[in-house]
Amino acid sequence: MSKIAPSILAANSLRMGEAAHRIVDAGCDYVHFDVMDGVFVPNLSFGPGLLKDMKAEISLFFDVHLMLINPLKYVDVFAQSGANGITVHVEADRFKESLKRIRELGLKVGASLRPGTPAEALREVLPQLDLVLVMTVEPGFGGQKLNTDMLNKIRALRTMGFHGEIEVDGGVNLQNAKELAAAGADTMVMGTTFFGSDNPAQLAQKVHALGR
Ligand code: DX5
Ligand code: ZN
Repeated sequence: MSKIAPSILAANSLRMGEAAHRIVDAGCDYVHFDVMDGVFVPNLSFGPGLLKDMKAEISLFFDVHLMLINPLKYVDVFAQSGANGITVHVEADRFKESLKRIRELGLKVGASLRPGTPAEALREVLPQLDLVLVMTVEPGFGGQKLNTDMLNKIRALRTMGFHGEIEVDGGVNLQNAKELAAAGADTMVMGTTFFGSDNPAQLAQKVHALGR
């Protein structure tokens, strides 16, 4: 059974409360919380304050994706603000120290790869990971087209013996989600598809029905 993790990056910033309830009411599995610093990616998004406010209002798994050049600096504040899992990029500074800190805080440990970074880059740390987030677009913006070359990266991670959770992020929709699940992906980040849907509960049900 696949999971669905709507990204609030695609929600209307003026109606974030509604967006959070829409995710819960649709029966989704995670809130995917995209954090951007304008350095690691050419965009800015949300801070720990929004996470804290959302956490106070809804009780769902907060899947925090730090697209930051120095994630270690912010791991603790996102943990204190309510993150349940934190994912950092292998291309970022102090990557291994960040993984260690997330584990020390008792959170789910995730590592992410830009499309241009091979799965091999994670080989050494795979045993420490609960989750690998395969970016299927260049991080920074929602609404892009999924890069199907990333299917081979998902397969490569499985061939490398990674049995943890593989999450995919960027341009995911119901059509390509079938292929992604068949290749070995477990969890679908959906921003544009979810918030553009006129029947989010049905979308979530269809994603849940996908299986490896
Ligand atoms: C890119 C972001 C997006 C977002 C989902 O940095 O991480 O991938 O979550 O994008 P869409 O809207 O394509 O589902
Ligand atoms: Zn993301």
